[in-house]
Amino acid sequence: MNIISVSHLTKYYQVLQKESGLSGSLKSLFNPQYNLVKAVNDLSFTLQQGELVGFIGPNGAGKTTTLKVLSGLLYPTSGEVSVLGFTPFERNNTYLKSISLVMGQKNQLWWDLPPIDTFHLNKEIYEVSDQEFQRTVSEMTHLLNIEQILKTPVRKLSLGQRMKCELIAALIHRPQVLFLDEPTIGLDVVMQKTLRDFIKEYNRKYQATILLTSHYMEDVKELCKRVIIIDKGKIIYDGSLSKITQKFATNKKITLVLAKEIDLKSLAQVTEVKEIEFPQVILNVPRNKVSQVTAKLLQKFPVADLNIEEEQIEDIIRKIFSGRELS
Ligand SMILES: Nc1ncnc2c1ncn2[C@@H]1O[C@H](COP(=O)(O)OP(=O)(O)OP(=O)(O)O)[C@@H](O)[C@H]1O
Ligand SMILES: [Mg+2]
Repeated sequence: MNIISVSHLTKYYQVLQKESGLSGSLKSLFNPQYNLVKAVNDLSFTLQQGELVGFIGPNGAGKTTTLKVLSGLLYPTSGEVSVLGFTPFERNNTYLKSISLVMGQKNQLWWDLPPIDTFHLNKEIYEVSDQEFQRTVSEMTHLLNIEQILKTPVRKLSLGQRMKCELIAALIHRPQVLFLDEPTIGLDVVMQKTLRDFIKEYNRKYQATILLTSHYMEDVKELCKRVIIIDKGKIIYDGSLSKITQKFATNKKITLVLAKEIDLKSLAQVTEVKEIEFPQVILNVPRNKVSQVTAKLLQKFPVADLNIEEEQIEDIIRKIFSGRELS
């Protein structure tokens, strides 16, 4: 059964256009002009129970917008969205008790109160029993090693400690579905890893279905077998992380070790030379020409060793993120 099902989801924002200055303000007050921002444009995908899927794409691609629609904070402009059989924007109580949205850039913890107070508040809101509450809090604070800061006001905590508490607060009611929007943003690598392990464990232990956005490829590589890549509100890839190269890698890297010096011009005639440090030469070769180029190299040059590599997923994603691959 599909836990999450998104079909032709479109979400436009209306943004008021305002010229600068007072006259601009007056103009827009009496004759408002709107611009339409197509944040999400005809998205379709499904998630099965227990999947942990990376939802990635460049800034402004529409990730947060999609997560907000899925968690019932925004109405879709058009299209169908169903999560656990509910329509999120109807904000059914049972539905809201079954999900959680965590945003790394926003906090839900009460700033002047210690985290344990927010946990208690969420316990009441979500009607969690005393027993369950105790179990969840002690288990999670132990896993994240933050027993000692539960009674410290949030404003005195480090970013990493706060993020750990944010996660626990969001999980007090043990949601079956989690939307994680950049949960590791701004954290150092050690803290990122701690949170990743925690997310992985939550996913494994409760068979929770998780959709996660992150700009850190390490998060995606460690946690997600499947990724959905979106750009300008549209899905450009949905599939396994390991197969991304097949769709986006345009080149392969050939490393040559030469047995003796050669005329580099003649090498450049065969393919693009990226780097030379005799006796090693690195070449950039279009994927569809690899066998042809390799044959020529072996035939024409004194090759002592030859190695063919795929582009790294990390590099490919970086290219997609920076827009070069797609523009
Ligand atoms: N409340 C809003 N009103 C108007 N436009 C918005 C609003 N929220 C987002 N947008 C616009 O919608 C588009 C998608 O934004 P969204 O926040 O979903 O992107 P994102 O993929 O989460 O980006 P990032 O990686 O930077 O978080 C952007 O062009 C953004 O400027
Ligand atoms: Mg975002």
